Amino acid sequence: MLSYQHIYHAGCIADVHKHSILSVIFSHLILKGKALSYFETHAGRGLYDLESQEAQKTKEADMGIERVLKDNVFPKEHPYLQIVEKSRLLYGNRIYPGSPIFAEYLLGNEDQIHLMELHPQEVNFLRKTPHKSNVHIHFRNGFEGVLGLAPPTPRRGFVFIDPSYEIKNEYGVVLEFVKKLHRKWPEGIVAVWYPKLKAGHHESMVEEILELDLKNIIVSELEFADKKTCKGMYGSGMLIVNCPFGVNDAISDCKDRLEVYYKN
Ligand SMILES: C[S@@+](CC[C@H](N)C(=O)[O-])C[C@H]1O[C@@H](n2cnc3c(N)ncnc32)[C@H](O)[C@@H]1O
Repeated sequence: MLSYQHIYHAGCIADVHKHSILSVIFSHLILKGKALSYFETHAGRGLYDLESQEAQKTKEADMGIERVLKDNVFPKEHPYLQIVEKSRLLYGNRIYPGSPIFAEYLLGNEDQIHLMELHPQEVNFLRKTPHKSNVHIHFRNGFEGVLGLAPPTPRRGFVFIDPSYEIKNEYGVVLEFVKKLHRKWPEGIVAVWYPKLKAGHHESMVEEILELDLKNIIVSELEFADKKTCKGMYGSGMLIVNCPFGVNDAISDCKDRLEVYYKN
């Protein structure tokens, strides 16, 4: 039973951290001009209506994207901002774009984009949005789906793993998935998003991935609440394996901008 719906959290500060990092990686990857394969294990619905009842119930976007836009946290030319603005121009000011939209707008037409989503309602939303012909939507378990297609053609590529971590053992599932994926496709870039929770469930997953001794691992962790007093998520983490050479500074810059801002 899938109960998590990202609409309750769309545009929150963790989304800004996650999507700004994805944006700088996509913008870097297209510079080479060589086609690539991109996969999302957990795509979500693609476009989120921040005026919907669900989003208004939590109002998480108020402290995330809306605050970041109001205070010009990112410069105008930043790819993250460009895609938020492009989505709003196309679909209205109530919209927040999800990870599939950042990928579709920032990657090239030659790149093959595979989006996996298991929730029938979310996949229906994703299918309703017009997509380019290089975008393939799969209504299936993303862990199985990506392993089934890896290594892909073109072999140059990137997998983004963004589960809801509703069940505690999902951290272990991600760890095993990263190991299996790496055996099948050692050169693939892999990005894992995870929440930083007081219970610390993410810690062993991150430590064990680091111990696998894979190449070019970058970890970006943003803390936006006080761990001691906060009841839920106090931070957002993104771990990248085979991180492309030359993008580290842009990844740190995303975190630095948000960190300085949220500390004030
Ligand atoms: C955190 S949300 C994804 C958000 C999206 N990546 C973004 O940044 O816009 C997680 C999504 O994974 C879906 N999901 C949960 N388990 C899944 C699985 N095993 N395979 C594919 N999708 C799954 C949920 O329905 C939910 O839409």
